[in-house]
Amino acid sequence: MFMEKILIIDDDKISLKVIKEILDRLGYKTLQAENGEAGLALVRSEQPDLVITDFQMPGIDGLEVLSEIRKLNIGIPVILLTGYGDVVLTIKSIQLGAFDYLEKPIDPAQLKNIVHLALNSVKVSSGLNEVKFEDASSESMMESNILVGKTPQMKEIFKNIGRISLNKVNVLIQGETGTGKELIARLIHYSGVTANQPLVIVNCSALTETLLESELFGHVKGSFTGSIRDKKGKFELAGEGSIFLDEISEISLNTQVKLLRVIQELEFERVGGEEVIPMKARIIAASNKNLEALIKEGKFREDLYYRLKVFTIDLPPLRERKEDIRDLIIHFLHKLNKRFNRNVVKIGEGVIDLLKAHNWHGNVRELENTILQAIVMSKNDVLEVENITLNPRQNQGEEIKQELPRFRTIAELEKYHIKRILDEVKWNKLEASHILDITRPTLNAKIEKYNLIRG
Ligand SMILES: Nc1ncnc2c1ncn2[C@@H]1O[C@H](COP(=O)(O)OP(=O)(O)OP(=O)(O)O)[C@@H](O)[C@H]1O
Ligand SMILES: [Mg+2]
Repeated sequence: MFMEKILIIDDDKISLKVIKEILDRLGYKTLQAENGEAGLALVRSEQPDLVITDFQMPGIDGLEVLSEIRKLNIGIPVILLTGYGDVVLTIKSIQLGAFDYLEKPIDPAQLKNIVHLALNSVKVSSGLNEVKFEDASSESMMESNILVGKTPQMKEIFKNIGRISLNKVNVLIQGETGTGKELIARLIHYSGVTANQPLVIVNCSALTETLLESELFGHVKGSFTGSIRDKKGKFELAGEGSIFLDEISEISLNTQVKLLRVIQELEFERVGGEEVIPMKARIIAASNKNLEALIKEGKFREDLYYRLKVFTIDLPPLRERKEDIRDLIIHFLHKLNKRFNRNVVKIGEGVIDLLKAHNWHGNVRELENTILQAIVMSKNDVLEVENITLNPRQNQGEEIKQELPRFRTIAELEKYHIKRILDEVKWNKLEASHILDITRPTLNAKIEKYNLIRG
């Protein structure tokens, strides 16, 4: 029978013995070391399946053991033994990639539980292939401008970007929030004739009318309160490059008139100024609101609309191109692993299905945030279902309609709530305990107390 090897490192001989006996009884093979150096030597020579190390030891301490093991770049899970309630150390150990930590004195049931989970996480991982990062060698500038998508809709968009980038026509990008409008704008700018010119970004919703105008066109000294010197506007700064007008639907009708004039005459003046400045930049505008609807409501000028949409790109919401989700996950793993110094390179079973079933009202940005959270929560190199938290907002409709039973006591309410959460996560106790914000032992105790059964 295959026996898993567990290395215990602790300078306290009694503690070493206690842990060894518990693990022996559970049928694991154990190795022991009384200090960090000896422990690391055993890690190299014996390749244990799991390391349990005390934190406080003379010489190399537990955190150093942990980071040395991480440097070896082998996926051995490490469990740290800490003093009671050492929050800072706990956080640090998890940041450094510890699987979990155990507080001394050791609770045998808890030890059994964590060891089991840790070894299991390795098994989950070893059955999965690593995902390939195709763009692993690309430069960082281009990397942040990578657009992922193989669905027909996205391929069509790539082709259009190709066409647009060779001519300096104005472009209107429309799409729900988080669909990648800004990313597309960058691509248009950097992939064609404007690549070596400036790209200037203006968020039109962030400023009041006066400030937006001064921001766009610049102003001369004294033109309004607070304008203590001449200032170039974004149109001037964009030069022969591109100006990205984000959330264009938010500009006032007054400013719309001025913008229209700039586009028609290809020149403008600074606020309060007389000098005529030529306009040579390409305008890329973006909106997550339907501009045609705003025109009907009289909130957006039709003539400006047609000037902006010489070319339009309509970005489909993520739920209409779910075939891209897998590639996007891989892309974000690659991008975020680097940023957070993690190495989550495998995708757990059920993850893709779970993510494909979601509605993604926040689109690609929501997906990126979901992956980020899961990476932060993960304890090994696998993106696992239990670490994925989806925005529940969209599924609440049914829940609200469902009538709540009438409760008399707090215990009845608690029982009902715990059962509901357990059912919701299909009795994944780890996930349930996260949601309920209680420890797993506490959850187990409540399950027993209330006689909860899976049904
Ligand atoms: N096709 C894609 N491939 C890779 N990353 C993408 C893709 N689409 C969007 N992203 C990423 O998703 C995030 C959101 O994209 P972006 O900011 O461009 O959306 P947006 O449409 O401008 O959203 P909003 O309307 O809320 O401003 C960014 O981090 C972006 O890099
Ligand atoms: Mg945006």
